[in-house]
Amino acid sequence: MNTKYSDLINQTFYFPQEEFTLNKDNLHFHGIDLMKLVEQYGTPLKFTYLPKISQNINRAKMWFRNAMEKHGYEAKYFYCYCTKSSHFEFILNEALKNNIHIETSSAFDINIVENLMEQGKINKNSFIVCNGFKRDQYVTNIARLINNGHKNTIPVIDNFEELDLLQDQIDGKFKIGIRIAAEEEPKFEFYTSRLGIGYKDILPFYRKQIAENKKVELKMLHFFINAGINDTAYYWNELVKCLKVYIALKKECPSLDSLNIGGGFPIKNSLAFEYDYQYMVDEILNQIKIACDDAEVDVPHIFTEFGSFTVGEAGGALYQVLYQKKQNDRENWNMIDSSFITTLPDTWAINKRFVMLAVNRWNDIYE
Ligand SMILES: Cc1ncc(COP(=O)(O)O)c(C=O)c1O
Repeated sequence: MNTKYSDLINQTFYFPQEEFTLNKDNLHFHGIDLMKLVEQYGTPLKFTYLPKISQNINRAKMWFRNAMEKHGYEAKYFYCYCTKSSHFEFILNEALKNNIHIETSSAFDINIVENLMEQGKINKNSFIVCNGFKRDQYVTNIARLINNGHKNTIPVIDNFEELDLLQDQIDGKFKIGIRIAAEEEPKFEFYTSRLGIGYKDILPFYRKQIAENKKVELKMLHFFINAGINDTAYYWNELVKCLKVYIALKKECPSLDSLNIGGGFPIKNSLAFEYDYQYMVDEILNQIKIACDDAEVDVPHIFTEFGSFTVGEAGGALYQVLYQKKQNDRENWNMIDSSFITTLPDTWAINKRFVMLAVNRWNDIYE
């Protein structure tokens, strides 16, 4: 009978995998010997493997490039980094090596953007997509960014009052987006997303407050599905509803040229994780292209704001098992030298699942 830990893993999953390999009985992560890290720094230890951030950004760019070529989709793709996925400077510095744009969620993110501009890490061509609910400080900060000359700032209107608040403080003409409030999945306890404006209200809102308004140029429609980008009837149904709104708006508003499909790419949360990213991107662009061709409108540029996908596969935490506590005849609990909540990679990790593996002693008997 095979009883070693390595046997258990081998019998249950395809192993080794791209990021996890074995050297004798020690685990390597992207070729890094984790036991050596432990010997050098001790435990508990939180670490980030920065190249994975750039790798995932470039994977996403490649999937969109491939899909655009495949479908003859004549528009551009813009990868935005959502500051909320991690505010750490070393993470942002890595992400910003890849010619990307920024999405913000609150007033304080604008200070980060200004700081990055001062350092020359983003420039006047970088899009700053300002999402979230906006009042006082956030409106003031967005207005300052635009008034200081950053014309590629796109506040995404979340509610009916926001446009007036922005106009009061912004000098001259500025770009805007509108966020669609998606209907939540039927199994969810709420009906409609807390953010954005309902599908049916968007066209009337445009006609009333934007169409004749010389101060604003509607550029983007924003659509984010909380449950993520999944191959489900629910996702495709919401996308089609969103495309109907896009097309109806586009027919009245020539400046509208971008669709922001938000975040929502899953991350590898198990050794058995399977998700065909290229297929999903292909199908999203295919649906958009079909809808736009049928309606005889140009396909939109695509913006994304992948949060956990950008940072989630880059991080890890190492613990030491201090003791095996026997609670009854059958169950031994491994007691670690930390708690999982103190070493969560970041707040996006709440409620997510992660790969958990032994670092050493893969040739010991499995319990
Ligand atoms: C507007 C918006 N964009 C992007 C994200 C990032 O989502 P994810 O981590 O699923 O990619 C979120 C998450 O809450 C969001 O609200």
